[in-house]
Amino acid sequence: MTGSADGYAKTFASWKADPERFWLDASAAIEWDRAPSVALDPSATPLARWFPDGELNTCFNALDRHVRDGRGDQLALVYDSPVTGKVVTYSYQQLLDTVARFAGALAREGVERGDRVVIYMPMVPEAVIAMLACARIGAVHSVVFGGFGAPELAARIADCQAKLVVCASCGIGPAGVIAYKPLVDEALRLVDGGHQRCIVLQRPEGEGTLVPGRDVDWHEALDGAEPVPCVSVRATDPLYILYTSGTTGLPKGVVRDNGGHAVALEWSMGAVYDVQPGEVFWAASDIGWVVGHSYIVYAPLLHGCTTVLYEGKPVGTPDAGAFWRVCADHKVNVLFTAPTAIRAIKREDPEGELLRPYDLSALRTLFLAGERCDPDTLSWAGQHLDRPVIDHWWQTESGWPMAANCLGLERLPVKPGSATKPVPGYDIHVLDADGHDVPAGESGAICVRLPLPPGFAPTLWRADDRFTASYLSAYPGWYLTADAGYFDEDGYLFIMSRTDDVINVAGHRLSTGQIEEVLASHPDVAECAVVGVADALKGQVPIGFAVLKAGVTRPNQAIEAELVALVRKQVGPVAAFKSVGIVRALPKTRSGKILRSTIRRIIDGEEWQAPPTIEDATVLDQFEALATATPD
Ligand code: COA
Ligand code: AMP
Repeated sequence: MTGSADGYAKTFASWKADPERFWLDASAAIEWDRAPSVALDPSATPLARWFPDGELNTCFNALDRHVRDGRGDQLALVYDSPVTGKVVTYSYQQLLDTVARFAGALAREGVERGDRVVIYMPMVPEAVIAMLACARIGAVHSVVFGGFGAPELAARIADCQAKLVVCASCGIGPAGVIAYKPLVDEALRLVDGGHQRCIVLQRPEGEGTLVPGRDVDWHEALDGAEPVPCVSVRATDPLYILYTSGTTGLPKGVVRDNGGHAVALEWSMGAVYDVQPGEVFWAASDIGWVVGHSYIVYAPLLHGCTTVLYEGKPVGTPDAGAFWRVCADHKVNVLFTAPTAIRAIKREDPEGELLRPYDLSALRTLFLAGERCDPDTLSWAGQHLDRPVIDHWWQTESGWPMAANCLGLERLPVKPGSATKPVPGYDIHVLDADGHDVPAGESGAICVRLPLPPGFAPTLWRADDRFTASYLSAYPGWYLTADAGYFDEDGYLFIMSRTDDVINVAGHRLSTGQIEEVLASHPDVAECAVVGVADALKGQVPIGFAVLKAGVTRPNQAIEAELVALVRKQVGPVAAFKSVGIVRALPKTRSGKILRSTIRRIIDGEEWQAPPTIEDATVLDQFEALATATPD
């Protein structure tokens, strides 16, 4: 550990005393084409912007400078794919060469600085190459997670007005090939006036059909391309857009800018994760999520580490020892995953037998994030790994940890159930409905005082007003995280639940409102509600309740099956929507508000009380009956 006694308190105090000086100092770890002369532009809206006059290239910082400085032969990327039986490595030099050429291929397809490129790919090196190639030419990538269906993909292509789509012919899950290309074709049909070109990585496990004149084979595109140099962009220019679930069907296009992102991620690698350049960092997530963007792709490379790209699952590829096998094979120093993955491993290997055959001597720490980490999971991992297991908290919007045990500053005692303390950069408070701090131990809305640190999303793609309405309006001067929780007497932060209709399914962020919109589109459904109920493996899963229109006589079972299939098609398999019940009415207040939290409590078997404002309490009987009938 490189931390020191009081390291956390000292660093936090030095940041708080002069945040602008603090981040200007941190910016020196990045190589600028034009170094920023000021830290913050407080006049920018909707949020103050970092390093307004700085210019740089993120790809240069992730690859070129490391090759120039002697890391050319060091491994940059290790692709480990138990589902295909392949392990492929790229040194920094090899990754740079391929990225520079693929950037040339993008340029040949007419992609220019500022253009948007949608990437719909599984966990293959080409996905990372495409992201970095976009960064190299100043194009803005938007990666869409492979578990989303065609309508979701189409919504993202349309919203960011992508010029080009880069996709793979298929993904591969434990059960076999998952075709991607037909979904891309359907999505492009759904996009109004869709004229996007498409670069397709044909995977031998399942090739797709190329549309002549529109689709180009990845290898043909790459083979014919000349390498291109990095384009200098403004620190405040967007590096990527990552869509995440909001409260409606329309996803939020979280924007990340180049300069603040590079500075914050580079700083976090040392201060939070305590990793040194040259070490091996493995974030077992997916490039479709923010964890993948930040800690599979950008942060490890910005920091000169080796990153592991794992195409497999924690269990079933082939067994619950897969993570430990990867750690041993690639001498992983720091592992980062979601608590769900550990729960899945624990369920199949409760005694940790599958850990024993592997040499985990390189592994120092396990970091967990993405959902609330139950103390059981934390202690199981700690007991079997016999090394620190660190829960930390962040969001797509923040892009990097907001609360953590910052091991590079100081290792604080772990309190199970807590994400530890605010990371320097984040002035976190728990507020009551009137905007006052609540006392220690009391729950409230978790908010961050403005300005937010570098790396934090400055806005939503072409939706400043939505950004302001979603995050800045509830408490002027504060960012509303939409998480509820409390600080204890020692200043440890406990994140307990969301305050909106976002649920967390296996560490994947989903909107119940979005699923409700899909259910409501079924011709037989009059109204519906979706709630996230507790699940022993995935943390939460969505469950739906639908009231049928008067006069519908078709069997309930058939309609329920159609509703499940509809959500799978419209949202995607990632929603894990497997359960819907037809009910005669939904519980509502007299003003017509559906009592979703009461439904959830009943189904989860928690204590509940009908609120005094309920219109008809007898409606709840059917939910009690369903709760008794639903297995855990
Ligand atoms: N491309 C296409 N389909 C995908 C996909 C992808 N990249 N990722 C998931 N899916 C599909 C799966 O095939 C599955 O479909 P199915 O209903 O036909 O089986 C569905 O989406 C749900 O997938 P998943 O959430 O992965 O559930 P699972 O039951 O297959 O596996 C776990 C359960 C716990 C092993 C898995 O959720 C997991 O590894 N979780 C770790 C969470 C994580 O990494 N979170 C990232 C945030 S840090
Ligand atoms: P995402 O934007 O997909 O990363 O999801 C962010 C949300 O996941 C947060 O707002 C929290 O609700 C939840 N979350 C992430 N990390 C944690 C954590 N360590 N503890 C509790 N909840 C978490």
